[in-house]
Amino acid sequence: MAVKTECAVSQETHVLPLLNPQKRARYDLSKRVDAIPLFYAEMGGEELDRRISAARAALGERLVILGHHYQRDEIIKYADYRGDSFKLAQLASRRKNADYIVFCGVHFMAESADVLSGPHQKVILPNPAAGCSMADMANIAEVEECWELLHETLGDDAGIIPVTYMNSAANLKAFCGVNGGIVCTSSNAPKVIDWAFKQGKRVLFFPDQHLGRNTAAHYGIAADQMVVWDPKDPMAFDDAEEVLANSKIILWKGHCSTHMRFSVEQIEKARTDYPGINVIVHPECRQEVVNAADLYGSTEYIIEQIEKAPAGSQWAVATEINLVHRIAQENPDKFVFCLDPIVCPCSTMYRIHPAYVAWVLEELLEGNVINQVSVDDETAHWARVALQRMLDLA
Ligand code: 13P
Repeated sequence: MAVKTECAVSQETHVLPLLNPQKRARYDLSKRVDAIPLFYAEMGGEELDRRISAARAALGERLVILGHHYQRDEIIKYADYRGDSFKLAQLASRRKNADYIVFCGVHFMAESADVLSGPHQKVILPNPAAGCSMADMANIAEVEECWELLHETLGDDAGIIPVTYMNSAANLKAFCGVNGGIVCTSSNAPKVIDWAFKQGKRVLFFPDQHLGRNTAAHYGIAADQMVVWDPKDPMAFDDAEEVLANSKIILWKGHCSTHMRFSVEQIEKARTDYPGINVIVHPECRQEVVNAADLYGSTEYIIEQIEKAPAGSQWAVATEINLVHRIAQENPDKFVFCLDPIVCPCSTMYRIHPAYVAWVLEELLEGNVINQVSVDDETAHWARVALQRMLDLA
């Protein structure tokens, strides 16, 4: 294949593929982690398609491509497996024969795949800038500070079990591993909370307060036993000792900006416009939205419910737009639309563009592993402990 020479030359020039030349000129590209060779950035869709297909075929069983449901169609079509974050974590732990796991998702998912995969396997995130703003709302220094303050206030008998949502950095998963805690995803959060309350008296849940609140309410925890922890203003409640002593769950003040767009008013409008409509939402939505919906669950759950519904049924869905469009396309016998009239893509998931996939695959063909996500051994060990506790509950 003639790629080698062309890549070697073009990699000297790094560009941002999705920006026009005037916008590109405003960035110092040497500081951008999402820079990509001009060679790929300027390539048309058909050429990218041809190259990705050829590279996939040439890499054969050595390669597995995982795609999260929020990826755009142009990426999902290359995925060997698609799934929610739980299913993709399971797949990463089971596909031990592939040398390369190309993870079309976001950074925390690729980290988890690295933690769960074998030592001989390399996990690649095509665009290293595909992060998650919610995951960034909790960092290890803040969580350690919170942990210390909670124990200072509640004393030796605090009985706190840390639970981190999958959408978190590997060092937060490791924190849970070290401290008797666990990881959860939106598909297994109820089981995980049940497990946590069998281990201790109360839960520290980070970083998504909404998944934490929805799950705790479902478990039967009263609103006055839920405390919101603001890492920017810790211990900022009156009567902190009493409030914390009465608490069953301490919810980190984090959120998903995409799911925050959904509202009860949108649900009311959908019910007025389409009497009899089914409303299904993701548990990262606010509690009042979840309460006003008919059903809620992970991306995989949303897909399954609509797939098995009778032909002619109508669905208003509150989750990321690429997934909602795909469900609509794949269920032409049903009426499916997004509750938010203004498009709500997950902008970080969208950073995985076919140009990046072509680039990393063709580099693999040349023996170069680029954009690898690798978690250091100690962090990986303890993160694996917390992830394995979750996988063992399945
Ligand atoms: P699930 O795919 O596990 O439902 O979670 C999606 C997600 O990460 C939303 O931010």
